Amino acid sequence: MTLAELEIAKAQSLEEVVAAADAAAVEALRVKYVGRNGSIPALIKAMKDVPKEERPMFGKAVQAWRAEVEAALQAKGFAAAEKPVDADLTMAGRWWGLGVKHPLSRVIEESAAIFGRLGFTVADGPELENKFNNFTALNTPQHHPSMDRSDTFWFGEDCLLRTQTSPVQIRAMMANKPPVRVICPGRTYRRDTTDATHSANFHQIEGLYVDTKSVSLADLKSVLAYFAKEMMGDGVTVRFRPHFFPFTEPSVEVDFTCHVCKGKGCNVCKQSGWIEVAGAGMVDPRVFEHVGYDPAEVSGYAFGFGVERIAMIKYGIQDIRWLYENDVRFLDQLA
Ligand code: PHE
Repeated sequence: MTLAELEIAKAQSLEEVVAAADAAAVEALRVKYVGRNGSIPALIKAMKDVPKEERPMFGKAVQAWRAEVEAALQAKGFAAAEKPVDADLTMAGRWWGLGVKHPLSRVIEESAAIFGRLGFTVADGPELENKFNNFTALNTPQHHPSMDRSDTFWFGEDCLLRTQTSPVQIRAMMANKPPVRVICPGRTYRRDTTDATHSANFHQIEGLYVDTKSVSLADLKSVLAYFAKEMMGDGVTVRFRPHFFPFTEPSVEVDFTCHVCKGKGCNVCKQSGWIEVAGAGMVDPRVFEHVGYDPAEVSGYAFGFGVERIAMIKYGIQDIRWLYENDVRFLDQLA
């Protein structure tokens, strides 16, 4: 083959690649030109028969042909020839899409950062608990509904899926002397039928501050007011409503100012201006006795809120189930 013939063959090969109608045709052309027994490798093999003085020119032309055919094949969507794919670092990669953090992870991480600024550390505990940590130490009487099999997932007499993350606070107090300042994020379980606002498995963040200095309800309120503002934005604060929990006395339910209307009243807050987000209170002296603290010497507060609830009001999510379906069309909207 002369140089002129080579140019003609090259032009023809490129035309053929451009005209290839489908993947099979592209593959056939790859085999024909750059495959192991294709015409370009054959030319390279036959190089020794080319007169010595023409060899460099001819060699260059063959290499150029090979490069152009490979590029054309690649442009047709085919990873060129038989060389290892990773040898060509400039080759276009496949687009897998950038992931986003799940809204529940975001709320947990943001909460840990906000409380972290106030000196709280994150404590962790098992999802399978014993009766003492989940109920007894938390001053929950035997007749309390949450003790019932219809409300709690029991595994035998003394093993259950925790119904709240409060047992982590019990563990934290038993393992440390005051002051104790922790938040406990994690999964919790209750026998709930799943609907738009309920799920048998959900997440809580509970917080606990116990000190030998006197700790007051006002301290609790200021901490939650700071959290409300940092998590939901300026203009959002808290109000307390009297309530009952076995493990706190006094106990309150905590409302945030509606972050949408800033308290004026709208559809989101059912015209009330407030949204219920948490339970809280001053740690009951009985709880201190159970963990070996002297109630005469220590005082403290505890609070607990649902992560799903915060995520749903923060991001305007109407159905709790969307948080568990891992549908990227939903998750991408929160990116
Ligand atoms: N543990 C309570 C619940 O799950 C929330 C709470 C925590 C209330 C701490 C008061 C103090 O409902």
